[in-house]
Amino acid sequence: MSEELSIIQGSKKEQYQSLIPQIKALIGGETDRIANCANFTAVLKEAFHFFWVGFYFVKENELVLGPFQGPIACTRIQKGKGVCGTSWVNNEVLIVDDVDAFPGHIACSSLSKSEIVVPLVKNGEVFAILDVDSEELATFDDIDKQYLTELCEWLVTII
Ligand code: SME
Repeated sequence: MSEELSIIQGSKKEQYQSLIPQIKALIGGETDRIANCANFTAVLKEAFHFFWVGFYFVKENELVLGPFQGPIACTRIQKGKGVCGTSWVNNEVLIVDDVDAFPGHIACSSLSKSEIVVPLVKNGEVFAILDVDSEELATFDDIDKQYLTELCEWLVTII
């Protein structure tokens, strides 16, 4: 497929629905984890202009920074720490409307105001998390949760 995204105007739901087949076409034929995660973050960044989109991978009981789009970020996050570490240990999607109100939030950038974290699960174990940050408060809702979860569940099947 051509490596150009078609980004439609419309509701967030319509944008996700338009992006899903494009993401699948872009990375579905590739099995390399780094390449696929890199393009996955690029699509979300380009389509929604999120402040930061990236993956952390579980390595030796820590989260270690993986492919991302956005400003430089914390390299390692301890188990159970921050939004990412909490999502990992609880194996749940976390939506944080105001990061300053989340106990233990790790501020890689003071510009980040709200966040969604989606765990990637294989054989019942979280092996990575997707983290998306916004410069606005309360950017993420159940629509993001639904579509980012769907995308991550699909991504897990090919990486
Ligand atoms: N805010 C995250 C840390 C990762 S950065 O936002 C990229 C957290 O509290 O886990």
